Amino acid sequence: MRSIMTTSTAQILDGKALAARMRQDIGLEAEQLSQKHGRKPGLAVILVGADPASQVYVKAKKTGCEKAGIASYSHELPANTTQQHLLGLITELNQDPKIDGILVQLPVPAHINSETIIEAIDPGKDVDGFHPYNLGRLAARQPALRSCTPYGCMKLIEETGVDLHGMECVIVGASNIVGRPMALELLLAGATVTVTHKFSRGLQSHVERADIVVAAAGKQGLIKGEWIKPGAIIIDVGIHRLEDGSLTGDVAFEEASQNAAWITPVPGGVGPMTITMLLANTVQAFKTHLGEE
Ligand code: GUN
Repeated sequence: MRSIMTTSTAQILDGKALAARMRQDIGLEAEQLSQKHGRKPGLAVILVGADPASQVYVKAKKTGCEKAGIASYSHELPANTTQQHLLGLITELNQDPKIDGILVQLPVPAHINSETIIEAIDPGKDVDGFHPYNLGRLAARQPALRSCTPYGCMKLIEETGVDLHGMECVIVGASNIVGRPMALELLLAGATVTVTHKFSRGLQSHVERADIVVAAAGKQGLIKGEWIKPGAIIIDVGIHRLEDGSLTGDVAFEEASQNAAWITPVPGGVGPMTITMLLANTVQAFKTHLGEE
């Protein structure tokens, strides 16, 4: 809850509202295509083990599918599932014509190699956009299926109406699923991109000159409000649960709001967009499989 004492000047980038609008459009398109082709888009959702956070995410993905007219097929496997068994299931799903997208919820248990699993997925069904083929397409300026969180961040930045050409963008965090594909997205859009990571020196000095900050370090409150350049756009990918049960991000929200022009809240910013882009990718894959595009 925001205090009445806040001196916030930033406008809120409302991911919940944008996600709702986009999901309506995705649902309409899915419905029209389903009528025309006699089947719904199909997403296979694989969860190995019973990690509570993963269970919450998987449930939200399945609910999102249902509401958008996408058929979801659940594969909930025990934690001791072998890599060979999982690879066998992926091979079956790759060949199954009713399946347009395959999602393996990460992390997988330690005895399973996530890279091997990701590479086993047909790139045309890789609706997470994690396969090296899809990352390579983005790097080569010919995006195919795009990683959901960075793709969602781009949609949020578009909402501000900013022209990204030549903008100074600083990404904090260099993970395979957020920081790296985010750098490729911003580069594709014509921005000047810096990626900082755990070995970077002078984080503050990088953030201070950024027109756009994408915080994806996974460290609560890492980005201080006074570092933010006046008028900057702040995209906070971090999500951390506090002792009182509330959620917060990688950016000191109240303080950053006093300098930023636009800022995403946590919750209600990037989070709702990630699943929205998964649904968009599933409909995109469906269209490709139907020969619509
Ligand atoms: N674990 C954390 N984020 C993600 C995501 O976007 N997709 C999948 N499959 N697993 C995740």
